[in-house]
Amino acid sequence: MENIKLNNNLECPVVGIGTFMLSPADAENSVREALKMGYRLIDTANAYVNERAVGRGMKESGVAREEIFLSTKLWPSEYENPNSVEETLERLGVDYVDLLYIHQPAGNWLAGYRQLEKAYKEGKAKSIGISNFEGKYIAELETKWEIAPQFIQVEAHPYFTQKELRKTLDKYGIQLMSWYPLGHGDKSLINEPIFAELGKKYGKTPAQVILRWHTQMGFVVIPCSKNVDHIRDNLNILNFTLTDEEMAKIAGLDKNERYYHRTDAQLDQFAAWKPSFEKE
Ligand SMILES: NC(=O)c1ccc[n+]([C@@H]2O[C@H](COP(=O)([O-])OP(=O)(O)OC[C@H]3O[C@@H](n4cnc5c(N)ncnc54)[C@H](OP(=O)(O)O)[C@@H]3O)[C@@H](O)[C@H]2O)c1
Repeated sequence: MENIKLNNNLECPVVGIGTFMLSPADAENSVREALKMGYRLIDTANAYVNERAVGRGMKESGVAREEIFLSTKLWPSEYENPNSVEETLERLGVDYVDLLYIHQPAGNWLAGYRQLEKAYKEGKAKSIGISNFEGKYIAELETKWEIAPQFIQVEAHPYFTQKELRKTLDKYGIQLMSWYPLGHGDKSLINEPIFAELGKKYGKTPAQVILRWHTQMGFVVIPCSKNVDHIRDNLNILNFTLTDEEMAKIAGLDKNERYYHRTDAQLDQFAAWKPSFEKE
């Protein structure tokens, strides 16, 4: 596995598995199988309501806790709960996480960020991150953080490469983790002819070429799948290298266009929504 070094010197694998929209049963299965085949980075969130299942998958895999880079996210309705970090750790069945995000710039997000900083100082989060904090949100946080984050998790793929945001990230050595790396199942991205062409050259699938593009862009990538063959393929992307010319050709696909457009009204809804956490 290839690792990258974060701005606090911690190392993180460049490829992991995401668990958004996986039921607890599917999350448990995908996490266990992924770890058994060599994955070492897992991404979940309070809001995915599968943290207990992710914890079970980790234990069932037999992989030692300290070999796994575990990432989760506090949901906005948890930002003012003084026990949110402890409760998250309890659900996951661990005594620290490797990366703790605040999930959305909603509600009292500064209180959420202060919880991350506290967890970091206490060793309960080995690194911290912000998710969906583009534009004015990172600009405001930048003036208020005591500890700069190690990661930002945002939508990124060949149609939307976060050019603007990356200028700020470079100033602080903040690492980008891509969500919707494969377009969240949108076939038009995977079916772009360039990916089939390059896949043929390297003996890879179009999805593998896209994931390799992410890592060569310097992004950490966490594709989600409940299909064991896809999970295996998504890890098997580090034994070929796209040339500069090929990267430039893929850059031609950039439309600076997201799949997901969040509104201010949604941010209010996020702040009001309380996840119904798994009981067991
Ligand atoms: N912070 C945030 O707000 C946020 C938002 C969205 C996502 N995320 C994180 O990012 C992760 C990835 O995003 P995502 O799950 O939404 O989208 P994604 O990884 O871009 O796409 C997942 C879809 O791609 C398919 N797929 C996976 N591997 C494939 C392969 N090798 N070939 C063909 N199809 C493949 C999956 O279907 P199969 O199951 O059939 O393989 C699934 O339908 C999430 O799981 C989550 O951890 C974070």
